[in-house]
Formats: sequence, C-alpha cells, structure tokens
Amino acid sequence: MEITILRGEEAHSYNVELENVTLLSVLNNIKTKIDPTLTYSHGCRSGVCGSCAVRVNGREQLMCEYKPSDGDLVEPIRNARVIRDLVVDTSSIERFNCAGMGWSESFKAENVSAEEMERIETQSDCILCTSCFSACPVYAVNPNFIGPFALTRVWRYVNDPRERDSEAKMGAIQINGIWDCTLCGACVPVCPQSIAPMQDIKILRMKSGMLGYPDPTMNFGGGFDLGGWDF
Ligand code: FES
Repeated sequence: MEITILRGEEAHSYNVELENVTLLSVLNNIKTKIDPTLTYSHGCRSGVCGSCAVRVNGREQLMCEYKPSDGDLVEPIRNARVIRDLVVDTSSIERFNCAGMGWSESFKAENVSAEEMERIETQSDCILCTSCFSACPVYAVNPNFIGPFALTRVWRYVNDPRERDSEAKMGAIQINGIWDCTLCGACVPVCPQSIAPMQDIKILRMKSGMLGYPDPTMNFGGGFDLGGWDF
C-alpha cells in the first residue's frame, strides 16, 4: 500500500508491503527500512499514553490503533506547532490544564460511593492525546481557548465530591473557556476514549448559571436562576 506523509511543506509517499497492521507499524517499517529520518511520537503502542495522535485523511486518529488503507494521507495534528514531521509541541496540554485548573486542588478525606465514582469515570479516562484540541475550530479565532480536553478535566474535578475548591475552577473557565465553545461537536467523534467534551462543556455552562455567572452568549445582562436544578 502507498502511504503519504506530510513532512513540513512536502508530501512524501512510501510504498510498504504490509496489510492489516496499525499505522504505527507502517511508520516503524518506513523508518527502519526506507527512511530513518522520518520523525513521529509514540509510547505505549496500546492506546493508553496518548502520544501518537495524528490526522489521517483529515481526521484525528491514534497511530497505534488506526489500520491504514492504500492512499491514506497522514499529517500532524492541528492547532499545535510542528517540531518535525509528525511531532508537535504538546505544551498546550499543560498550558490549558493550568488555565482551567484541571487538577485536584484540595481533596476532602471523604468516602465516595460507587455511583459517585461512576459519574467521573468517563472524564477520568482522558489520555490527553489532544485529538479534540486538533479538531476544535475555535482555535482559529482564539488561540487562548482553554478547549475541550481541559474543560472535560475541569468537569471531572468539579463533579468529584472530594474536591474542596470547585468554585475556583468554575471561576477559571469563564474567560476563554466554556462560553467560547461553539458547541459544534467536532471534538466528540475524534475522542479515542469515547468522551464527549461538548456535553461536559454544556453541563459546565448550566453549573455556571446556577452559581450566578452571566451567560455572555445571551443578553441577560446578569446571572439567572435555573430553578434549583441539581446534577
Ligand atoms: Fe500510546 Fe498510541 S502509542 S496511545
């Protein structure tokens, strides 16, 4: 099969004699047998570390999971500075997680029920592959958008009954955060962990309303009452 890889400004095509293998295996084959200068990232080879995300035919994929077909075009993920070939600068992971306070600030020692753990299980599965970040169109107009993976992490901690400082997190995502999302849903189908960041952002918007934050996408001019809704 023939695979084309965008390397800088140039597209390079390679013919490999492999079938029914992952794209990562194909790239390893190219690197060891055809072109040792080809550069890409990978780690676990099993969909856990999130380091091998690329775009194939315009859609984000993990190289260690995707099985390529003849004629595929492989490119680096979008919205990140390309360092070389398929390797991009991933400092945005730290930057956006910091901006949204997407971590545990201060845990209360408290028993958590199985149901409560289940409520944060999906968001806890994020592997920070940045596929959602690459698919998000908002970065074209706002490079400071905290973005889908970081906002999903914020919801994971805000929704954790052990978290003491969830209100600080809610405050951190009012600017360049939940209200900048267009709710287009581009982040949802590309997540290899079946997380739906757009849904988490919608819930964070509702939670913001309950805390009295104004919705700048509407003309309320102030906070509004959601009638005591709870999650
Ligand atoms: Fe770890 Fe692909 S190599 S997710």
